[in-house]
Amino acid sequence: MRVAIGNDHAAVELKKELCVLFQEKGIEYKDFGCAEGEKCQYPDKAKEVCEAVVSKEFDLGILCCGTGVGMSIAANKIKGIRAACCSDYFTAKYTRAHNDANILCMGARVIGAGLARELTEVFLETAFEGGRHKTRVDLITELEK
Ligand code: RB5
Repeated sequence: MRVAIGNDHAAVELKKELCVLFQEKGIEYKDFGCAEGEKCQYPDKAKEVCEAVVSKEFDLGILCCGTGVGMSIAANKIKGIRAACCSDYFTAKYTRAHNDANILCMGARVIGAGLARELTEVFLETAFEGGRHKTRVDLITELEK
């Protein structure tokens, strides 16, 4: 499992917490995000992380901004990306299982680091169920044409 993570200036601390999680769990990751003291535009960071996922250099991506919403709007403009902005466990799990989401977005001004870690863990460990859900995801892909 290779994870690409990105953030803007509103989510530097949250990104750092999630990098600690990856280190603890031995998860391979690359930090594309904004560093301490920098100012970054979230669409730029969304683009970098999403392109790294679409190219299959990374399996899944995590994007954090103030609300998580700006990142998810930007990410979903990119072909092949299914980004979900989550702040609860159930959604983070089932957006992988049913939507085959490949990007998890979270808001650093919305949820705490503890919940963000839980959402990240369940997102990374849940597999897409396929079957009837694949039919629906294929229909989403059709919308990109
Ligand atoms: C940055 O101040 C803020 O607008 C951004 O992090 C995010 O919340 C946008 O959706």
